[in-house]
Amino acid sequence: MVKDQIEALRRELEQHNYNYYVLSAPSISDFEFDAKLKELQELEAAHPEFFDSNSPTQRVGSDIASGFEQVAHVYPMLSLGNTYSEAEVQDFYERVRKGLNEEFELVCELKYDGTSISLTYENGSLVRAVTRGDGDKGDDVTANVKTIRSIPLRLKGNYPPNFEIRGEILMPWSVFDELNREREAQEEQLFANPRNAASGTLKMQNPAIVASRKLDAYFYYMLGEKLPSDLHSGNLMLARSWGFKISDATKICKTLEEVSAFINQWDVERKNLPVATDGIVLKVNSLTQQKNLGYTAKSPRWAIAYKFQAEKAVTRLNSVSYQVGRTGAVTPVANLDPVQLSGTTVKRASLHNADIIEALDLHIGDMVFVEKGGEIIPKITAVDKDARVLIGDKVKFIKVCPECGANLIRYEGEAAHYCPNENACPPQIKGKMEHFVSRKAMNIDGLGSETINLLYQNDLLRNIADIYSLKIPDLIRLERLGSKSAYNIQAGVEKSKEVPFERVVFALGIRFVGETVAKKLAFAFHNIEALEKSTVEELVAVDEIGERIAQSVVQYFADPLNIETINKLKEAGLQMSLSEEKLQARGNALEGLSIVISGTFKMHSRDEYKAIIEQQGGKNVGSVSSKTSFILAGENMGPEKLKKAESLGVKLVDETSFLSMINIENPTTEFTGLLF
Ligand code: IVH
Repeated sequence: MVKDQIEALRRELEQHNYNYYVLSAPSISDFEFDAKLKELQELEAAHPEFFDSNSPTQRVGSDIASGFEQVAHVYPMLSLGNTYSEAEVQDFYERVRKGLNEEFELVCELKYDGTSISLTYENGSLVRAVTRGDGDKGDDVTANVKTIRSIPLRLKGNYPPNFEIRGEILMPWSVFDELNREREAQEEQLFANPRNAASGTLKMQNPAIVASRKLDAYFYYMLGEKLPSDLHSGNLMLARSWGFKISDATKICKTLEEVSAFINQWDVERKNLPVATDGIVLKVNSLTQQKNLGYTAKSPRWAIAYKFQAEKAVTRLNSVSYQVGRTGAVTPVANLDPVQLSGTTVKRASLHNADIIEALDLHIGDMVFVEKGGEIIPKITAVDKDARVLIGDKVKFIKVCPECGANLIRYEGEAAHYCPNENACPPQIKGKMEHFVSRKAMNIDGLGSETINLLYQNDLLRNIADIYSLKIPDLIRLERLGSKSAYNIQAGVEKSKEVPFERVVFALGIRFVGETVAKKLAFAFHNIEALEKSTVEELVAVDEIGERIAQSVVQYFADPLNIETINKLKEAGLQMSLSEEKLQARGNALEGLSIVISGTFKMHSRDEYKAIIEQQGGKNVGSVSSKTSFILAGENMGPEKLKKAESLGVKLVDETSFLSMINIENPTTEFTGLLF
């Protein structure tokens, strides 16, 4: 019986958990544990009727989930009915006319393409910001939202004592482009569109990074018991006077002709706006009439969204080429007959991976549809099979690396193909060096990608360690590189010897080891020798380091070529251990404790508390369990957590007691900036 099988697996995993976390005596390898957990996850997914909120799979889920408090919406966050045709807008208009049987006005607004947010104000102060979540409850992201400068924290004028206002958080195009440029330079995965970038940013655990992302917000919907106006437009105008950003592109329309003119005007003018829009929203203006029309199960009958068509073009696929990145990931790119799309000439489109090529059933010479939705890089969405006269060769993903000829590999569970020849494949070598010298790594001035290419072509650079044996006369001898640049490079190389250990770990370019993971590794192992010797078991014991990263680190240090490189870097004088100062800043007051943070705090932000816990040797976990040592409890702690804590007998520690427990009265200066 499947039920028995599920139960047996749960018991077994619980026992292993107990052995590991309580007894500190694991009886099974992490690899075997993960395999069993995966098996259970699959069984549970196939048999939702046996769901149990206390299953070991749920513990994993909630621990991974971010540390945001879940909050129930007072008014559910509904979505809007969607249409792509003006005929359906007409149908909507008719339904409203018949439903009301009296005169009515429609408010036409732009449909902003970001991530929705609901703000609660009490006596003119922002008290809570919650994401849409599943519509009934969302994440409390107040700390992050407070960093958005265009959102008023205190209102001005004559506002009601209690109300909610909803709107859209957006990342302006200019910020999005800049962020992606930076990510590209770091070979980090790019955000596909500003919407993803905005929602990703809002879910980050560090409000300081959120603040640097320069998000913006427009508001379009007010809710509350006693709103000041019976007109939607009236409430928005008042909200503007209290300090909210309300779009200027809002118009009251009485006829379908006026609505149609609004659509046509903004389908063109929206391209000049600083933020992304994907349609317009029509709303009945009178709140009384809104009430009379009511709701369907999912959306209001008094509003509808008209979505702009994504711009499309048809063109010919001439060939597919393959690009190899720093990590060895191979990206297929379609070469097309040039075609005009949204004001630019498109010649190339991303094909993402082998599965997508297969799903499209692509053949050379096919006429393909190219679309530029909210995405920056156009994509091929379909093949016009009727236009096939002679069928060209089927596009088959390559088997060997186009740069070095090595056989490509595909990691389990990943869509991308990789060239494994990381130490001899030219774009990978050059990419590794570009990463090594980049700003957030060794920050070596003067060594841009062109110079690296020049040095590579002249056999002066084959490995990151070669950077430290570059000689001024060798550099000056090169064409295009004057003596000033040569001295510049030398100075930059010298200065990089002071770069702290955690950044050196990041600079090595170990797969899956980004900036944050590098810091975690540096703080956990203290020096390169210890990191070199670390085992998968030791690595996964570090907070937020999973099996995939651990395997990659072990594999990196198992390669003698990498050890040789590290030894050369050591000889060159790079920082290969954590500075004394940082070592000492790390305390052990919370060593071995699992702590849940819940509620809102007065003296420090949640992120500061998280950093304090980690710096004192503790572990910050997301959900309460019998293994939780205590809860650092602020005000308005979530009722679920409170209930669970009571039933498990987990004690609550308030802010002041917590700070005295670690013997620090004002840790801000000591703690922020060190870990993050
Ligand atoms: S009104 C009950 N107005 O589109 C209706 N929504 O599918 C509340 N959106 O969740 C929404 N611009 O995230 C409204 N001017 C606008 C909007 C807008 C963008 C988003 C919002 C909503 C979704 C509806």
